[in-house]
Amino acid sequence: MSFKFTPEELKSIEELRSKVDDDRALVMPVLWMVQRKQGFIGNDDILYLERELGIRAIFFAEAIGYFAMFNDAKKGKYELKFCKTITCKLRGSDELIKFCENLLGIKMGETSSDGLFSLGESECLGYCEKAPCMLCGLEQHAELNEEKLESLIQKIRQENASR
Ligand code: FES
Repeated sequence: MSFKFTPEELKSIEELRSKVDDDRALVMPVLWMVQRKQGFIGNDDILYLERELGIRAIFFAEAIGYFAMFNDAKKGKYELKFCKTITCKLRGSDELIKFCENLLGIKMGETSSDGLFSLGESECLGYCEKAPCMLCGLEQHAELNEEKLESLIQKIRQENASR
């Protein structure tokens, strides 16, 4: 079933619209509403937003492509998004990604069979002095190394096994 706002959500978007001069100011809060509820914003969802809110699809698509916290497809419960920009590369992010791929048994862009982890890439996370960096959901992890990565993955597995 594709994404739909509730009447209450549509009302709150319209309230927000009444406070801004340009509808493009709604793009980020609206995308965040979809991301929070569904975990991703697909092409069908973008077209729904365009139809429902009268805001051009390209504005939504650009924001999804640019900001690391938005996903354009369904992901695992935890998405590990590695910074692929130069400082992190120079500090070993490629090797760390390979290590993580081996640990999880999946390649970049894939999701583990238990649906727990996805691997993704991001542009600079703005934390270059503590490279290499990664997002796990909305949480930023810096000065990463193999030990830190392994213990994070173990912790997540344990937490989810006991639920
Ligand atoms: S280059 Fe990775 S955080 Fe900036």
